[in-house]
Amino acid sequence: MQFFRSEELKQELDDVDSLTEDLEAGAVEARGWPAEFSAYKVAKAAMNAYSRVLARRHPALRVNVVDPGYVRTNMTRNSGLLAPDEGGARVVAVAAWRCYRKAARPARSLAAARRRRPRSCDRRVASTSTRARRIQPCCSSSRRKIMEGAISVPANTRVAVVTGGNKGIGLEVCRQLAGNGVTVVLTARDEARGGAAVEKLGELGLSDVIFHQLEITDASSIGRLAEFLKTRFGRLDILVNKPSMSL
Ligand SMILES: NC(=O)c1ccc[n+]([C@@H]2O[C@H](COP(=O)([O-])OP(=O)(O)OC[C@H]3O[C@@H](n4cnc5c(N)ncnc54)[C@H](OP(=O)(O)O)[C@@H]3O)[C@@H](O)[C@H]2O)c1
Repeated sequence: MQFFRSEELKQELDDVDSLTEDLEAGAVEARGWPAEFSAYKVAKAAMNAYSRVLARRHPALRVNVVDPGYVRTNMTRNSGLLAPDEGGARVVAVAAWRCYRKAARPARSLAAARRRRPRSCDRRVASTSTRARRIQPCCSSSRRKIMEGAISVPANTRVAVVTGGNKGIGLEVCRQLAGNGVTVVLTARDEARGGAAVEKLGELGLSDVIFHQLEITDASSIGRLAEFLKTRFGRLDILVNKPSMSL
């Protein structure tokens, strides 16, 4: 809580045990808690704290929490200040940071890669001229080998998982990552909604998006996704975990 700036939030979270009891008793309003968003604030505070724990425990991983801003999605009943692509860009700027850092060295490689196109396959080149630090694929992904049961992605192509990818900020994150040459595993709890989202991205010419079902609150569902990633790719470079307001 030392990291929170809002005194009001600190006060609310200071007595989280009572909040939980009152929530279970259906007495949140009656006992004077703010009527809206108590559970939301607790969930986000827990997410912040857990991310700090993960970052400390796994120094080899880059763990971040990103505030996308107030975005027009179902969750905000489309009342946000930012369009989904603007909110998504904030997340992608952090998620793709490592790709950018690697690909950006040395600066002249961008021109060199352009000259070589389409000879070399799957090399990603970062443009330093954009604020969003976009990564541009330098040749068509259709040349990638797709083998039975396994997708062979070259070592310098990133593999990302996006949870809650069927709509809102998640769908935007999928679109922007795939548009920047990342192979995306779009997950959703509902197969039909997830499949429809993949189709929608396919219509935009983004074919490196694969659907996998994921119910984020179900450990066996998470296990199935982990197994799928291991078998198909043998690795995971980026995880964007963003489903639901209270998760
Ligand atoms: N929008 C904002 O202004 C804003 C601001 C700050 C932070 N955020 C955070 O950003 C995240 C996404 O928000 P959003 O505005 O994009 O919301 P959204 O449009 O409502 O999308 C939520 C997504 O999460 C999925 N989901 C919900 N419960 C799930 C579960 N148990 N397992 C797997 N997937 C689940 C939903 O799937 P279904 O379609 O199946 O329901 C949907 O794809 C949330 O964590 C939110 O708190 C949003």
